[in-house]
Amino acid sequence: MYMETVRISSDVYYIGVNDRTTHRFEAMWPLPSGVSYNSYLVCGRDKAAIIDGVEKACAQEQIEHIRAILGDRRPDYLIINHMEPDHSGAISLLRQAFPGIRIVGNLQTLNMIKGFYGIADDTLKVGNGDTLELGGGVDLTFYLTPMVHWPETMMTYLATEQTLFAGDAFGCFGALNGAVLDTDMNTDRYFPEMVRYYSNIVGKYGVFVQKALACLEPLTVTTICSTHGPVWRRQAAKVIDLYDRLSRYQPLDNGVTIVYGSMYGNTERMAEAAAQTLAAEGVRDISVLNASVTHLSYILAEAFTHRGLIIAAPTYSDTLFPPIAAVMEGLVTRNLRNREIAVFGGCTWSQRAAKILQEYLQALDTEGVVPPVAFKQAPDAGALDAARDAARTLAHKLID
Ligand SMILES: Cc1cc2nc3c(=O)[nH]c(=O)nc-3n(C[C@H](O)[C@H](O)[C@H](O)COP(=O)(O)O)c2cc1C
Ligand SMILES: [Fe+2]
Ligand SMILES: [Fe+2]
Repeated sequence: MYMETVRISSDVYYIGVNDRTTHRFEAMWPLPSGVSYNSYLVCGRDKAAIIDGVEKACAQEQIEHIRAILGDRRPDYLIINHMEPDHSGAISLLRQAFPGIRIVGNLQTLNMIKGFYGIADDTLKVGNGDTLELGGGVDLTFYLTPMVHWPETMMTYLATEQTLFAGDAFGCFGALNGAVLDTDMNTDRYFPEMVRYYSNIVGKYGVFVQKALACLEPLTVTTICSTHGPVWRRQAAKVIDLYDRLSRYQPLDNGVTIVYGSMYGNTERMAEAAAQTLAAEGVRDISVLNASVTHLSYILAEAFTHRGLIIAAPTYSDTLFPPIAAVMEGLVTRNLRNREIAVFGGCTWSQRAAKILQEYLQALDTEGVVPPVAFKQAPDAGALDAARDAARTLAHKLID
């Protein structure tokens, strides 16, 4: 809490806040390093515009930032790029603090503001390509980028500074530790957190992210102001490239994610056998994750990172072991594609796990590198060999 305001360029200030208190973003995704709700103030000669709000609990801090910069002057506009309440929660409090401020959004935004907050007055509806002039050549242009990751999402572009206010796009988990601009920090910690944010929250909408990237293609963007994480300048191109690859469901490397569920260690032995074979075959990035221990958030991020995927699970109460069912639902929901996958299913009396995993393979639009490997009770030498054979076949797909 209570960051200093930071000037990002001659007309743009950072007025966002850090949240190191919330445990789970969207009540689901762990925040071990917090998250920032970024907001910006763009000052023209005549008018000043806030771009995006913050979480409701953080509104007072944002208001103080605005007052510190503007003094007695009032902000004229509140541009809403995205209505998810991590950004829109502060709207009512901002209106109370700055009466008469006009809320700028597209048709869908304005409908949602009415539904969430009962606000229908002092609004300005904008469409794709519309421009809002703040005076002195400071013009903001709006680009509608629906379904990144809500229907109303749009982006705002400031041509004079080649700056894109991108909403959640290019965002990541992790609060800002002192610096705001990527030029002033080591950003290594934020890249895995961008993959995690993307895979958890935006992952389903790769097709729409691609549409948004195509729409932004004609713009020269040298600074990306996302609503979460650092402002990207030094590494703006790297961040755009990462989003492009993730949204095309392209893996980032030729590693393998092994996700297993195991109550008494039998299925785990299959996963271990596969991991050792992959390593012996030359695969260098292998993550072995116990779905009962590692949060789904990190499992999804690994699956979006590596080209290879092995899922191993026992049968439980005549269905798939529930923690693995949650993983499979998570992958199918996000339309994960372009992966080389093998599945192992165990049981003691009725083989359901292998069968259900096979159905999930179809939902992921793949036959798998080998047919599902089924085993009973403790895996015998034959079962372990089948796991090793599957891993070898997978390794060859990745390395050849
Ligand atoms: C609570 C519970 C329910 C189970 N339900 C089934 C089942 O419905 N059908 C089946 O064939 N095996 C069932 N099993 C047996 C396991 O699927 C099987 O023993 C498996 O090999 C366990 O692997 P693990 O040691 O990796 O947990 C169940 C086991 C437990 C503990
Ligand atoms: Fe969002
Ligand atoms: Fe957000």
